Amino acid sequence: MEKLRLGVLASGQGSNLQAIINATADGRIDGIVTVVISDHQEAFALERARQNNIPAHYLDINSFAGKAAFEEEIVNILRNYQVDLVCLAGYMRVLSSVVLDAFPQRIINIHPALLPAFPGLHGQKQAWDYGVKFSGCTVHFVDQGIDTGPIIIQAVVPVLDEDTADTLAARILEQEHQIFPEAIQRFAQGKLAITGRKVFTKR
Ligand code: GRF
Repeated sequence: MEKLRLGVLASGQGSNLQAIINATADGRIDGIVTVVISDHQEAFALERARQNNIPAHYLDINSFAGKAAFEEEIVNILRNYQVDLVCLAGYMRVLSSVVLDAFPQRIINIHPALLPAFPGLHGQKQAWDYGVKFSGCTVHFVDQGIDTGPIIIQAVVPVLDEDTADTLAARILEQEHQIFPEAIQRFAQGKLAITGRKVFTKR
């Protein structure tokens, strides 16, 4: 079977990118990361890509006429690498229809909370501040909203009395590194079926 061609968008340290790369390397994902794109020049995700001989593209949004032109370039790059699935791994911008329409039902995101609770920025800290007893992480398809698309997999992480926002975030991140590759593999195997808001995993 042809390997799924992944394009990863990342703004930060890229630990989820690394988890995806590792899973492609050891056969847990029947796929290959073909390109990494970042909106931050200093993003360590770009360095991780280079270390793994994956093309790394930095795009400075300020050098484009506007967000649409910036996203058109993202689409151009993803198409050049014949990307099948776009993975948002800590990509800190909301995608517009320019990218969404180019890859319908082919963009997934990792969010560090149990959606629909605590969408948006700093989901781990939002949950900790709120005082919930369980939080976690969510992999979902991306739609035009902020962290609102159909949910593929969630992992639950208990909040401990001794937790700080940082220790909770660290344990959530460990789970992100498990469920993001798992969701990608289900997609790669053609197992995901979307019906309205629901995503079913075929056996
Ligand atoms: C993760 O917590 C992810 O859920 C959120 O941004 C963070 C990115 O971490 N969207 P990394 O860059 O993958 O290490």
